Amino acid sequence: MNRRQFLALAALSGLASACGSSAESDPAAFRTRLQVPPLLEPKVDKDGTRRFALTMQRGRSEILAGKPVETWGFNGPYLGPTIRAARGDRVRMTVTNRLDEASTVHWHGMRLPAKMDGGPHQTIEPGATWNPHWTIDQPAATSWYHPHPHGQTAKHVYRGLAGMFIIDDGTTAELPARYGIDDIPLILQDKKLTEDGLPIGDPLKGTFGILGDHMLVNGTHAPFLNVRTERVRFRILNGSNARMYHLTFADRRTFHVVGNDAGLLPAPVQVDQVSLTPGERVEVVVTFTAGEQVLLRTISGSDDIDEGDFDLLKIVAEPRLAASPRLPSRLADPAPIVIPPNAKVRRFRLNGHDAINGKEMDMARIDEVVPAGATEIWEIENTVYAHNFHIHEVAFQVLDVDGEKPPAYASGHKDTVYVPPKSTVRLAVRFGHFTDPATPYMYHCHILRHEDSGMMGQFVIVPPGTENQVPRMITAHHM
Ligand code: C2O
Ligand code: CU
Ligand code: CU
Repeated sequence: MNRRQFLALAALSGLASACGSSAESDPAAFRTRLQVPPLLEPKVDKDGTRRFALTMQRGRSEILAGKPVETWGFNGPYLGPTIRAARGDRVRMTVTNRLDEASTVHWHGMRLPAKMDGGPHQTIEPGATWNPHWTIDQPAATSWYHPHPHGQTAKHVYRGLAGMFIIDDGTTAELPARYGIDDIPLILQDKKLTEDGLPIGDPLKGTFGILGDHMLVNGTHAPFLNVRTERVRFRILNGSNARMYHLTFADRRTFHVVGNDAGLLPAPVQVDQVSLTPGERVEVVVTFTAGEQVLLRTISGSDDIDEGDFDLLKIVAEPRLAASPRLPSRLADPAPIVIPPNAKVRRFRLNGHDAINGKEMDMARIDEVVPAGATEIWEIENTVYAHNFHIHEVAFQVLDVDGEKPPAYASGHKDTVYVPPKSTVRLAVRFGHFTDPATPYMYHCHILRHEDSGMMGQFVIVPPGTENQVPRMITAHHM
């Protein structure tokens, strides 16, 4: 008996289903059709600019049937529509804040000028509208957007403000790409739900903030999805505040990873499990057999942020499936990020949960000054418990984790990476060309409780040779 047969048998006999404690482990409990966020239709200006309108608003959602609770969303009560644009598109966002408090909207994974980034400096006051614009110029990828108001990100995201931002380019043609049919976003989030619904509580409590015990996919609790094609591409986003997922199917089937945060891999990588920390994305292609059912689940790991086995989504294949094209053996040609000789090495120490290199985030302090177009080594040392690390504006590749190469499925271009407890992760980071010595980008732990409490720093990108002329403090006037 091989391992797969053993696991299949174990699953049948209940041995492998440690998910027994929650009602969700019963496939029959997956009774609500998975919501798929609608695609946001742009208005196209005469000059071709595509204008997307987002409104941050309060609403009510029935996260558990029959128990509406207050949630926040973009253009609706929970989460936001999916934005889809292609490389070369000029985009213009109209972001209106109809909340009672200030927020921001950050385009996570987007390469754009710092003023358009939507970090903590680009505040949108209640009632105000923000109009960032840029030209999409990066490879096909699954990005996302979410608020980033300093100290409040955990609350705003937990209440529901997040959405996907899909970037296309000419290289995706052979992968399933029909949105909602064979190209499906899965936004994974965990919530604490009580009798009263979704108690927001204090997302800043505890070491990691909120770790929920109810799993939502695209805002749907205990969802099912009917698939109609042989192969389906899932764009999976960990949109949780703190939870790390180890995703696998109940029958341990293999599937292919085709993309990481910042773009497609050179070739599909076959796996039976992938791990995702908050903010990370992975694109996978899964093959189905007509008439079958299978559960997508997350299994416990060894950290505090990945405790618990939970089934997430029941996938039901129709009795007849439309044929899908074969998975291409070559996907994209992402030039590897090559470290130049004498590359600058910057070191970042994650200690506790509220500082980097011993310093708490300060909106007025520029921590790092990077010359435009640089490729550098960033070395992230984690001295205690689980963290991850996200850098705005860049694409990076993981060189090693404690000297070991990352798994093949995570070796592509990324913008967020897991930093295991007591380990050092080295990244080859490629910076962009938009310079602005007065407006910083962020780097931070994407466990939102940590980001909010100060595990974040700021860098500016400047014309090469001007690094030493940059003021290291931002005056209130500039903010
Ligand atoms: Cu997803 Cu600085 O954020
Ligand atoms: Cu970001
Ligand atoms: Cu952290």
